[in-house]
Amino acid sequence: MRTRIHQPPWTVAGDSAPGRFSQSTRRRPAFVDQRRPRQSGVSVKSCVSEMVHEPGGPDFAAGIALSEVADGAMLRGHVQGEPVLLARRGGEVLAVSAVCTHYGAPLNDGLLVGDTVRCPWHHACFSLRTGDALRAPALNPIACWRVEQRDGRVHVCEKLPHAAPARVPLAAGMPRTVAILGAGAAGNAAAETLRHDGYSGRITLLSADESRPCDRPNLSKGFLAGTASAESNPLQAPALYRAHDIDLRLDAPVAALDTGGRRLQLVDGSYQAYDALLLATGAEPIRLDINGASLRHVHYLRTLADGRALVAKVLESRRAVVIGASFIGLEVAASLRARHIDVHVVAPETIPMAKILGPQVGQFIRDLHERNGVTFHLGTTVAAIDKQSVHLTNGEALRADLVVVGIGVRPAVALAEQAGLATDHGVTVDEYLETSVAGIFAAGDIARWPDRLTGERIRVEHWVVAERQGQTAARNILGQHERFDAVPFFWTEQYDFSLAYTGHAERFDSVEIDGELDARMGGCTITYRRDGRKLAVAVVHRDLEGLRAEVDFERAIASMQ
Ligand SMILES: Cc1cc2nc3c(=O)[nH]c(=O)nc-3n(C[C@H](O)[C@H](O)[C@H](O)COP(=O)(O)OP(=O)(O)OC[C@H]3O[C@@H](n4cnc5c(N)ncnc54)[C@H](O)[C@@H]3O)c2cc1C
Ligand code: FES
Repeated sequence: MRTRIHQPPWTVAGDSAPGRFSQSTRRRPAFVDQRRPRQSGVSVKSCVSEMVHEPGGPDFAAGIALSEVADGAMLRGHVQGEPVLLARRGGEVLAVSAVCTHYGAPLNDGLLVGDTVRCPWHHACFSLRTGDALRAPALNPIACWRVEQRDGRVHVCEKLPHAAPARVPLAAGMPRTVAILGAGAAGNAAAETLRHDGYSGRITLLSADESRPCDRPNLSKGFLAGTASAESNPLQAPALYRAHDIDLRLDAPVAALDTGGRRLQLVDGSYQAYDALLLATGAEPIRLDINGASLRHVHYLRTLADGRALVAKVLESRRAVVIGASFIGLEVAASLRARHIDVHVVAPETIPMAKILGPQVGQFIRDLHERNGVTFHLGTTVAAIDKQSVHLTNGEALRADLVVVGIGVRPAVALAEQAGLATDHGVTVDEYLETSVAGIFAAGDIARWPDRLTGERIRVEHWVVAERQGQTAARNILGQHERFDAVPFFWTEQYDFSLAYTGHAERFDSVEIDGELDARMGGCTITYRRDGRKLAVAVVHRDLEGLRAEVDFERAIASMQ
């Protein structure tokens, strides 16, 4: 049977507080080992991440003149060997860690917005007053220091203890038990946010996966390339779930949702009752339906177990065929090249990712891969696989001891559909992420929500969106009535190329590239428009412009209030 290759995963899906807990339970920041592989060229970001740990700059403990920090500006220095960021707002100066707790970006390259700082790499947002990670993808807080001003000089004194979240007794009408179905980006963020916001009821976090909530984006990047250890992949240490009394139940697939009885039936026959429920079942890779598709050397990549199995196979492979020139397919190709595997990519399109990023960016990415030794077989697809080869519909046969399939994902909506929730190529939610059944929320890859910027109902497959939706859904479970209007954001990393995309342009009729796609030539800002309206902005090596675009989109949304 002929296989249809679908739209790339975790971009637009057209068809369609995080760990702000006590230091002891916090996962070690990922830093450099989480960054992408570099086998050629110079990665600007990885160079920065190595510099992140160097104290550098003035010694703030010794004091600096207030005039050295301009109003509304940041200055990086150090205190007792730790990189510290000073931020001035009028006469007030605040001191926080200069290192993002997500992947270790230098926050001094980010943007000050009110009394927050936004991370340049993946747009996490931290409070300058409490250090709290206010928005994903960072889950853990940054440290804060006490600041004294004397005689026109600023002195950074001792580090301040981070306030552990206090549990608030359950008020009348609050759910006594919250069940979260799915322990991925959205589910994990929701559980942490419930506790951070003081929820004292029972939290059960159910996952079909065997491993703790993991850093999925890294599976196709540092994890596969071998630059990030398997141990660094889980999002949080087991101690965090214990300390916060989050009942994390792994390898616990759910078979049915009984909305009337307010309970979940697990595959093992047991039941889990709930007062409020968050559905965060994510997406499942689309499987090939051709001869040979279930051979042992054919791999998919979604879970940490998939990642481990793939790495084990890579170690004994020399030649790989990657099916699909999507983000995952191409990130996998880049990571396999980092391990010196001979890589062939097969896809039906003629320019990879043109539909999402435009033809010029797609051609640049194709050239980038070819410069790094990848061979493309485009405008064709796969007819059959046998133990030695992948047979294409154009008659070619490609020898392969490893096949990786990345042909898109489907939202995991079966339980929602079976329970009678409204669905439309995803679970339909309102602006508060509540489904058609009161008390049941949905977040992440499965949720289709009304996006205020485009005025359309959209569903995306982005890590940061899933986490932020998990955070908002948690607050709404607690009755905070918070509208989800974060601007969609995703990133990709391939070799020394890194692109960060803000907004949502499912369809566009104009792509304007200001600058050079090659980061070594200064990078660029890519603007996507439809009917003259700016819908999305992607940046290469221009992080600040990406952050400014996010703020502009937020202002546009706020002006619609
Ligand atoms: C290899 C890879 C690389 C990626 N890279 C990027 C990137 O660079 N940038 C980006 O923005 N996005 C990226 N993404 C996409 C991103 O990971 C997803 O958008 C995000 O994980 C979605 O989060 P989620 O919580 O909706 O679902 P998931 O993280 O998929 O979590 C779903 C959870 O639901 C559980 N579940 C499902 N069904 C059941 C059931 N019946 N019973 C019990 N549990 C169930 C699963 O076990 C899992 O715990 C990548 C994805 C992959 C796979
Ligand atoms: S490194 Fe800061 S958000 Fe990723």
